[in-house]
Amino acid sequence: MSISLVLLLLLLPSLTLISSTESKLTTDYYNKTCPKFHEIMQQLITEKQLAFPTTAAGTLRLFFHDCMVEGCDASILISSNAFNVAERDTEINYSLSGDAFDLIIQAKTALELQCPGIVSCSDILAIAARDLVTMVGGPYYEVQLGRKDSLVSKAPEVEGHIARPNMTMAEIVSIFASSGFNVQEMVALSGAHTIGFSHCSEFSHRIFNFSKTSDYDPSLNPKYAQGLQKLCENYTKDSGMAAFNDVMTPGKFDNMYYLNLQRGLGLLASDQALASDPKTKPFVDLYASNQTAFFEAFAHAMEKVSVYKIKIGKMGEVRHRCDAFNSIPTSN
Ligand code: HEM
Ligand SMILES: *[C@@H]1O[C@H](CO)[C@@H](O)[C@H](O)[C@H]1NC(C)=O
Ligand SMILES: *[C@@H]1O[C@H](CO)[C@@H](O)[C@H](O)[C@H]1NC(C)=O
Ligand SMILES: *[C@@H]1O[C@H](CO)[C@@H](O)[C@H](O)[C@H]1NC(C)=O
Ligand SMILES: *[C@@H]1O[C@H](CO)[C@@H](O)[C@H](O)[C@H]1NC(C)=O
Ligand SMILES: *[C@@H]1O[C@H](CO)[C@@H](O)[C@H](O)[C@H]1NC(C)=O
Ligand SMILES: *[C@@H]1O[C@H](CO)[C@@H](O)[C@H](O)[C@H]1NC(C)=O
Repeated sequence: MSISLVLLLLLLPSLTLISSTESKLTTDYYNKTCPKFHEIMQQLITEKQLAFPTTAAGTLRLFFHDCMVEGCDASILISSNAFNVAERDTEINYSLSGDAFDLIIQAKTALELQCPGIVSCSDILAIAARDLVTMVGGPYYEVQLGRKDSLVSKAPEVEGHIARPNMTMAEIVSIFASSGFNVQEMVALSGAHTIGFSHCSEFSHRIFNFSKTSDYDPSLNPKYAQGLQKLCENYTKDSGMAAFNDVMTPGKFDNMYYLNLQRGLGLLASDQALASDPKTKPFVDLYASNQTAFFEAFAHAMEKVSVYKIKIGKMGEVRHRCDAFNSIPTSN
């Protein structure tokens, strides 16, 4: 037996030991290595949300999109370079919020000063999303920690993992199903649209030249449709025009989204469709009538989202900067 093989055999048990402790996610993962993690996150999140009230929605959406494309691994934070077109550059076309990117970069900077090389960008994003949801009135849920950041981020991976408002309900259900989420979970997660906004281009076909017989989608409340037409009248010239997803309580995480759907106040075609499709309507009615049931379902589904395809041990790294891999990129 060669010396190196003997060495390898001797090392094996300790190697497995290391990887099994490393790969275990816990809610107190940083208690010893970065005891101020939660305190620093809380402080930054509070400041940012108060200064920029759109941060909560932007961060929740950023986290969800990161998770759905190859798992919750901060792959969405990577900037493209000469050798690689990153996820972010497809996603940016889906108008992910700049405030959310800024928040994660700020948090990483603060945490690198406090405990260098310890806290992963994917854990920062997961905690930021949870803390912000809670801060704007939503449920608290446990977030397991110890994710590693991805070693890849590729724009072509995005296609087919992110639902679009112009998809049929069957297509949307199938996208969620391919990541292991059932219809009820999909309806509960869509309740995220109780906060934030959507650009006019995402729903313009519902309010302008809808059909030969109607200017706007008849499933819209007429007053609401007229309001949106006014709001979006210049949207082709000013692509920044946007409407609140939840017209009644736009900044508050509550079950108003589902009540809106029952009254024709759903903004995106995919939102409104939840209230008419017989597979999804019962859950819309349940969550509209019982906020506790919505919060429980949302919290449970978010716990599931937040551990989707996470990278552990050698499958990833703790990035030094959230927008770049640790190793210098090479062409390949
Ligand atoms: C069911 C399928 C879904 C579709 C078709 C969809 C589509 C969209 C679209 C088109 C926007 C507007 C983007 C913009 O114009 O800036 C949006 C916003 C948003 N989405 Fe979704 N979404 C879906 C599910 C989800 C889920 C599951 C979550 C999170 C759990 C989520 C969270 C958000 C949030 C928070 C916003 C507001 C973002 C902001 O204000 O910056 N969405 N969504
Ligand atoms: C870890 O820290 C959190 C908050 O800082 C605390 O609530 C929790 O009890 C700690 N857990 C352990 C096992 O020490
Ligand atoms: C994003 O939008 C820009 C400008 O509209 C377009 O040139 C580019 O091809 C789009 N990228 C993707 C990945 O869809
Ligand atoms: C759906 O919307 C996307 C993005 O706006 C667009 O690229 C695509 O062509 C649309 N698909 C259909 C079927 O209208
Ligand atoms: C709607 O259609 C009319 C004529 O059919 C056209 O003049 C107008 O520009 C269209 N409006 C939009 C917002 O597409
Ligand atoms: C659209 O543009 C017109 C002309 O510039 C302006 O008077 C109007 O206030 C604009 N509407 C909105 C909703 O910004
Ligand atoms: C609302 O949902 C919660 C959680 O599922 C349940 O315990 C409660 O009984 C429901 N309330 C009503 C009025 O149905």
